[in-house]
Amino acid sequence: MKQLYIIANWKSNKTASEIGEWFDSFKNQFDQENVDLTNKEIIICPSFPFLKLANDCVSKLNLPLKIGAQNISQYGPGAHTGEVNGEQLKGIAEYVIIGHSERRTNFNESNDDVSKKISMAKNYGINPILCVQDENTEIPEKVSIVAYEPPSAIGTGNPDTPENAESVASKIRQEGKAESVLYGGSVTSENASSFSSMENISGFLIGGASLDPLEFLGIVKNA
Ligand code: PGA
Repeated sequence: MKQLYIIANWKSNKTASEIGEWFDSFKNQFDQENVDLTNKEIIICPSFPFLKLANDCVSKLNLPLKIGAQNISQYGPGAHTGEVNGEQLKGIAEYVIIGHSERRTNFNESNDDVSKKISMAKNYGINPILCVQDENTEIPEKVSIVAYEPPSAIGTGNPDTPENAESVASKIRQEGKAESVLYGGSVTSENASSFSSMENISGFLIGGASLDPLEFLGIVKNA
């Protein structure tokens, strides 16, 4: 059985109280359904101010979930107003999303920035989840997780086809640049299994559908 990663990217959504409610509701349903997570790693990525809160919810509710950040500074500690560095994230984020198309497009992140962020994450023992937009997006160094997310599929309700996603994932793996390739872009509990049943697709990066704990759990179950 291949290892699957099912990652919630909450983006700039949810307040502290909404996060508490999400975990309570996830826990409730998770326990009722006795979900088998043998080959599944579930990672929740809230906004920076709530990383500690998310860790506390997971420990308090004894949930088998990992916590990730949505960004990391390419700089270390110092005079970088507004940045959050690896030393600060270490211990509260096991993973970090890097190179999401929203950051590349809206915040002008370049391949060089992405490359520096990957090195910085690795320096601090945080696992990068590198987002690529197509098969030609630069992967500067080998990472364990790459998420293939075509921008036309993000938040549109128009996912890529499982066949095309599989072809991109297989090329990335053949190049030896990633151990696991995930798919992201309009994933739902209904279409999840059509992607995860593909040989080279090892899970999902999920935006919109991860905001609802029951829909997210549906994806976890169906993956
Ligand atoms: P979506 O977003 O699931 O809402 O399409 C995916 C992502 O941006 O990671």
